[in-house]
Amino acid sequence: MNQAKTRILIVDDAGPVVVLCVNVLQALGYAVKGANRGETAVELLRKERFDLMVLDYKMPGMTGFDVYQQAKALYPVQPYRDLQADVLELVEKGAPHGPRRDVHVLDVGCGPGNFTFVLAEAGFSTIGLEAYAALVELAREKRRAKRLANLAFRHGDLAEGAGGRDGSFDMVVSIHGLYVHPEPLTLLHEAWRVLKPGGHAVFVNPTRRVGPWSTFREIKHRDGLRAALASLLWLVPNSIFEVARKRIGPHYWDENQFAENLKAAGFTVLGTRRTFLNGASVLVWARRDVEDS
Ligand SMILES: C[S@@+](CC[C@H](N)C(=O)[O-])C[C@H]1O[C@@H](n2cnc3c(N)ncnc32)[C@H](O)[C@@H]1O
Repeated sequence: MNQAKTRILIVDDAGPVVVLCVNVLQALGYAVKGANRGETAVELLRKERFDLMVLDYKMPGMTGFDVYQQAKALYPVQPYRDLQADVLELVEKGAPHGPRRDVHVLDVGCGPGNFTFVLAEAGFSTIGLEAYAALVELAREKRRAKRLANLAFRHGDLAEGAGGRDGSFDMVVSIHGLYVHPEPLTLLHEAWRVLKPGGHAVFVNPTRRVGPWSTFREIKHRDGLRAALASLLWLVPNSIFEVARKRIGPHYWDENQFAENLKAAGFTVLGTRRTFLNGASVLVWARRDVEDS
């Protein structure tokens, strides 16, 4: 199974504490590294990424807070990556127990597959569904390069039945695709239909237009130039998509409207929250109840 290990960095000037933490966490299946000086930790951070750091505050030389500040400078806020991590976390939470390969996930309006790859690389059996043929080709090209066997891309529109039989998926995700769909409510009904009873869904939709330059300036002002440059990785392709896409919608929904639309499609809404670029989008997670089968 292609299951990414969570990477943890332990930093403490007490050697035995580092050894104990490393051994225990390694035995639990995590990829763990230890450092007994802040400076050593920063050297490690320059070479590799970690999902979590456990920092002692008071150490000779750099304090834990100094290390945290350095880590923030090395890895500035990356809204798109954070959103990917949030979606993956909710899929992991909502997935039925058992091997991830047996968990079937549909990514609706997957574009070039940015979220689809994250889910497949985490071990889920994933299908990316996309209505624009050129994007499907691009996604398939990337899939061939990555040689992922638990991933496929389909060309089609969920609202026109491209999701297949009733109850085929354990999880459905759709990220920033509803607002450009001609019939987003039909799409939500179809998402409910293709979910197994008890299955979960994660939807993200913008609440407003995201202007590339105003957003760039806003991030630069708030988080600095590195963060603003990192945000271009999403802002530029999204601007190209906005120029090239069919003139449909946009259907921007706030939390209430989004929740109402999901309820009308049959879902039980489990939660909503603002996300992405200082709350420009709403993320909703929802369930198809078992008694609805
Ligand atoms: C802004 S892009 C987002 C792509 C991707 N989910 C991401 O976040 O990187 C919106 C995508 O929704 C797709 N889309 C819209 N309606 C669709 C539908 N009914 N079925 C499949 N794809 C759809 C568009 O083609 C486009 O790729």
